[in-house]
Amino acid sequence: MMMLTGRALRTAATAAMLAGLGAPVMADELFYVSGAVGNAVENFKELVKPWEEATGHTVTLVPMPASTTDQFGQYRLWLAAGAADIDLYQTDVIWAPQLADHFVDLTEVAKDLAPTHFPSIIESQTVNGKLVALPIFTDAPALYYRTDLLEKYGKTPPKTWAELAETAKFIQDAERAEGQADLWGFVWQGNAYEGLTCNALEWVKSFGGGQIVEPDGTISVNNENAAAALEMAKSWVGTISPDGVLAYQEEEARGVWQTGNAVFMRNWPYAYGLGNGDDSAVKGKFGVTTLPVGKEGDTSAATLGGWNVAVSKYSTKQDAAISLALYLAGPEAQKQRAINESNLPTIISLYDDPDIAAAQPIIPQWKDVFLNAVPRPSAPTLGKYNEVSAKFWSAVHNTLSGNGSAAENLELLELELSDIKGSGW
Ligand code: GLC
Repeated sequence: MMMLTGRALRTAATAAMLAGLGAPVMADELFYVSGAVGNAVENFKELVKPWEEATGHTVTLVPMPASTTDQFGQYRLWLAAGAADIDLYQTDVIWAPQLADHFVDLTEVAKDLAPTHFPSIIESQTVNGKLVALPIFTDAPALYYRTDLLEKYGKTPPKTWAELAETAKFIQDAERAEGQADLWGFVWQGNAYEGLTCNALEWVKSFGGGQIVEPDGTISVNNENAAAALEMAKSWVGTISPDGVLAYQEEEARGVWQTGNAVFMRNWPYAYGLGNGDDSAVKGKFGVTTLPVGKEGDTSAATLGGWNVAVSKYSTKQDAAISLALYLAGPEAQKQRAINESNLPTIISLYDDPDIAAAQPIIPQWKDVFLNAVPRPSAPTLGKYNEVSAKFWSAVHNTLSGNGSAAENLELLELELSDIKGSGW
């Protein structure tokens, strides 16, 4: 007979107790795939402990590359192959329409939980009436700024992109003259991947250049304001941002920032808690504000992000997987994530939670920012969003690298997007 040791014994005992039958029921071992950014992997073990103890099941996190684009590629392969060994997928807010067919409909099981979430977020995960995934956190970026450096030079957080560039250059030059050779003015995500689509949508939208493809499906990206926005960003590369920014994703930008080598950073709220960690060189030395605008009077644009949990249709342990999905999207787990990872909850009441506000003050402050955030055109472009985004980030990356002007690249992009669209999305 197989020996039951330690955890297995405890698990079996808990499962038997929960079943209330005296005889042990099967304890499932689930596999959860998720991207790995910040402290998400370490925190996951803590996060799921209460659920594991209550149910007797166990869950292993299978970490994916940090890039959402790389994750998407891998997930698509697994799902197309009907991989049965992955039970749950952590999914980006933009993927619901493209992956909907592979996931279990959670409408019925989440009928009590879903109404406690912001309706727009639930809607973003609903495809033709099917609730494809449950939201676990939402995302909207901030402009991080160094309070100590701004104060030292008598500067205030910038309102426009031009002001940002000016302040960044001023402080960068002055600090370098004092021997801070590694200091840069502004770090962000310029690698050719989904994160660049997010950054560039913010520049374009805040310059009055639209949102690539409008909610009614019109391709709007080839316009003068969009071109001006991209030319502006190009002027940062090699001046206030290192040339290497063209290869940066979130974690590279945070690395420069958190070692004290940037005046400004564009990043998501997860970088807030980590920036205030004991090992951070900028602990207590920074603030956050909304991203700048094109010109005074324009509205700031933050791209809407966020993550969800979906249950694979090919899982052979669906009951346990659904139970875990409900737990991860529920108030206990969302509160834990808010406090330990400074992730923005999707449950409305958590914005009034005093423990969260005390631990991570960015969270209550950021409610209006994400509620007004700009969605990427994943809804109007349906199953074609990934292709659209890839064409957009390539056009932007080419422009930033000096490979064609913004106007030329946007003209070409319009043709490519029209081809992808064909007679309709
Ligand atoms: C963040 C956002 C996600 C976005 C990604 C881009 O993780 O939450 O929606 O796609 O950044 O890098």
